[in-house]
Formats: sequence, structure tokens, C-alpha cells
Amino acid sequence: MLCNERVGLAVRIRLWAHFFSNISYSRDLGLVTSAFRRRRRFRVPEETWLVTQSIGGYLSLKEAGLLYWAAAEWPVAGPVLELGSYEGRSTVVLARAGRRVYAVDAWSLDVDDLSAYSGGVAAADEAFHRFQDNLRRAQVEAQVDICRGLTQEVGQRWDISGAILFIDAGHSYADVKADLEIWTPHLLAEGLLLMHDVLGGVYLDVTQAASELLGEGWRVVASAGSVVAFARE
Ligand SMILES: C[S@@+](CC[C@H](N)C(=O)[O-])C[C@H]1O[C@@H](n2cnc3c(N)ncnc32)[C@H](O)[C@@H]1O
Repeated sequence: MLCNERVGLAVRIRLWAHFFSNISYSRDLGLVTSAFRRRRRFRVPEETWLVTQSIGGYLSLKEAGLLYWAAAEWPVAGPVLELGSYEGRSTVVLARAGRRVYAVDAWSLDVDDLSAYSGGVAAADEAFHRFQDNLRRAQVEAQVDICRGLTQEVGQRWDISGAILFIDAGHSYADVKADLEIWTPHLLAEGLLLMHDVLGGVYLDVTQAASELLGEGWRVVASAGSVVAFARE
């Protein structure tokens, strides 16, 4: 084992130890166990990952694999509704897998969850311009519709059904619950719900909101990295 592989393993063990010491066992263990039982390695085509990895953002190779598989293989026709696009990492993966993507993001400091922006207003606008450039560079511009606004506001007047709903916008419990409540009715009955940052121990509010889905008619279909995919029972 190489030295930096050992460091990588040590960091992963620390993150998972942190995760397991912070989850609520009575509430989250069902979700975590289902997600681990359905963990799989999904492939992203090399040329897609080459374009994606140069984009700023928060999606790992494993997670990109699950998104790519979902968009390429989930047997329901219809677009992806993406909440939280930032500079376009997930958007590019989903679009390159062949789906139309509706990318909903405020790209603004009006959002409660500012973790994506450390540099102020300019950074939010800059992220938006980089998002547009990244779509052009990845040659998926024609496949993506940009919806700039707060997810909760855009969702109230939304009228397009999606085959896939990917949630990665606000990470507070209130934001995730509101996105689920407003946007899951726009997902087709057999559609697939993907949520980022459910596992891994950094966003325990997201873990909690995702756990509650299991009592609300959803089951886990697959997981990779921090992403969990759900379908209706
Ligand atoms: C974690 S980043 C998304 C990362 C992206 N999916 C990727 O693959 O790199 C979260 C994004 O959600 C947006 N956001 C957070 N809360 C939001 C809200 N309530 N409405 C709209 N956008 C929001 C932020 O502007 C930010 O760009």
C-alpha cells in the first residue's frame, strides 16, 4: 500500500467513525444499513470524468458514477430536475448521460446555505458564469435549461414532471424537508430520487431528512459515496 493510500484510508476511517458516532441509531440506522447493502461501484466514461473533474464542486468519482448510471439507465423517460448545480459538476454528468436537465439554483447569497460561497456576492455570480462556461466546454449547453431562483420558490410554480430528481441545494434540515415536500410531487410515480450528502457524516441534517423518507413510502435502490438513490415502494 502506498503512503498516500494509507493517508486516504486513515481519513476515510476518521470520517466514517465521526459519522457513526453522530447518527441517531434509532432513527438513521435503517437508512444507513439499507444504503450499505445497496452500495455499488458505477462507472463514468473516462471522457466524461475528464471534463467533470476540472469543474469546481463537490461530486466525487463514485458519486458521479451513480448519477451517470441513473441518468443513462433508469427505465423511465423524462428529464432530470436538479436542485443545486453550483459550477455544474453534477449537471454535466447527468446531461452527458443523455438526459435533458433542468438546473435550479439561486447562484446568490440569498440562500440560507452559504457553504458553497466563501467569497461573497462576486463569488456567487462568478460561480454562475463558470457554470455556463462549463456547460459549453462539456458540450451539453443545448441539453440544460437554467432556472435561476430559490428552489422553494421555483418549485411552487413548476409544471414539468421529472424522471429523476437530484437534491443538492440547501443542506439544513428545513431546506431539505422543504425541497422534498415541494419537489417530490413533480417526480413521476416510477421516478428516481437522488440525494447528495446523505452519508459521510458532514451533513447530519440531510441524513435525518433522508431517514424519514423510509417511513414515508420510499425505499433505497442504490448508494455510492454520500449519494443515496430512492424509489417509491
Ligand atoms: C453543494 S452546492 C451544489 C453542488 C453541485 N451539485 C455539484 O455537483 O458540484 C449547493 C448549491 O445549492 C445552491 N442553493 C443552496 N440553497 C439553495 C436554495 N434554497 N435555492 C436555490 N439554490 C440553493 C447554492 O447556490 C449552491 O450552488
